[in-house]
Amino acid sequence: MSTPVKVAVTGAAGQIGYSLLFRLASGALLGPDTPIELRLLEITPALKALEGVVMELDDCAFPTLAGVEIGDDATKVFDGVNLALLVGARPRGPGMERGDLLEANGGIFAPQGKALNEVAAEDIRVTVTGNPANTNALIAMSNAPDIPQSRFSALTRLDHNRAISQLAAKLGVPVTEITKMTIWGNHSATQYPDLFHAEVSGRNAAEAVGDQDWLANTFIPTVAKRGAAIIEARGSSSAASAASATIDHARTWLQGTPEGDWVSMSVVSDGSYGVAEGLISSFPVTVANGEWSIVQGLDIDDFSRGKIDASVAELAEEREAVKELGLI
Ligand code: NAI
Repeated sequence: MSTPVKVAVTGAAGQIGYSLLFRLASGALLGPDTPIELRLLEITPALKALEGVVMELDDCAFPTLAGVEIGDDATKVFDGVNLALLVGARPRGPGMERGDLLEANGGIFAPQGKALNEVAAEDIRVTVTGNPANTNALIAMSNAPDIPQSRFSALTRLDHNRAISQLAAKLGVPVTEITKMTIWGNHSATQYPDLFHAEVSGRNAAEAVGDQDWLANTFIPTVAKRGAAIIEARGSSSAASAASATIDHARTWLQGTPEGDWVSMSVVSDGSYGVAEGLISSFPVTVANGEWSIVQGLDIDDFSRGKIDASVAELAEEREAVKELGLI
């Protein structure tokens, strides 16, 4: 077996953590031949619960789990990590305004960005799942000046997977027939799941659906509001699917995209498709040798342009708000 890959998970005692850690430990990310060392960060009051989770990890006797360390000090937990999955975040409490939410999360992601900058491994890659994921990633990135900006990302893979599943169900085809799905913009209700560039068995998805009303008034809102629908049905937010998408995202980043396909990742914009430079926005990306690139040259019609612009405007507002708070 090779040297263990050190993977940090924050919010490790939370709901997503409870699904994510066991899949990571069992080899879902790195495969059966690469050992993984887990570095788990929590706030002090949650460390006892986290100890219980670690007892369960021990009890699974996973052959690929080379070690687990836990703690409440980011500088210790992130020391030498190759991959950081930033899941822990401050949820919106009752009566909390967006500015308060951004500020509370700035208090988490600015110090975590600084700690990664100081102690993470050279090849560090960072994925933010904790909401508001795109702007939290922007805050972490802005506080880690020595880490290349391309090493920061936010999770829109869950939205991507939801869009694939909804389209496959509509057309009665297996999910494996769907390629080139794209989520544009923010991981929020303004996100734009795009069927105009997606394909079903190689055929344009919007044409295969042939129903603009379904696309605009059923598909897009179903994907964008799926999180709320799950809370309504389950009584708590999506956790297993969020953990699964976090692993999909990180695995694609490490292993690459298949020929003829792409994935959705929120990454720093270089101005492509009119998305203001420096925003962390979701794009269609291909990945090779651990580096992502935004797919270029897609035609964007007026319908898509309006949807992308609306979501990107929200990201720009969030960036202004965190700038005013001095977080970036
Ligand atoms: P949860 O509330 O069950 O767990 C969050 C954990 O983070 C808690 O254990 C808490 O103690 C911990 N935490 C808080 N501040 C921390 C800090 N400074 N350092 C380390 N840990 C800290 O929440 P859950 O369900 O696990 O969700 C986590 C986040 O993921 C939420 O922000 C949620 O909105 C987001 N999410 C994102 C999705 C996406 O597609 N991007 C999908 C689903 C959830």
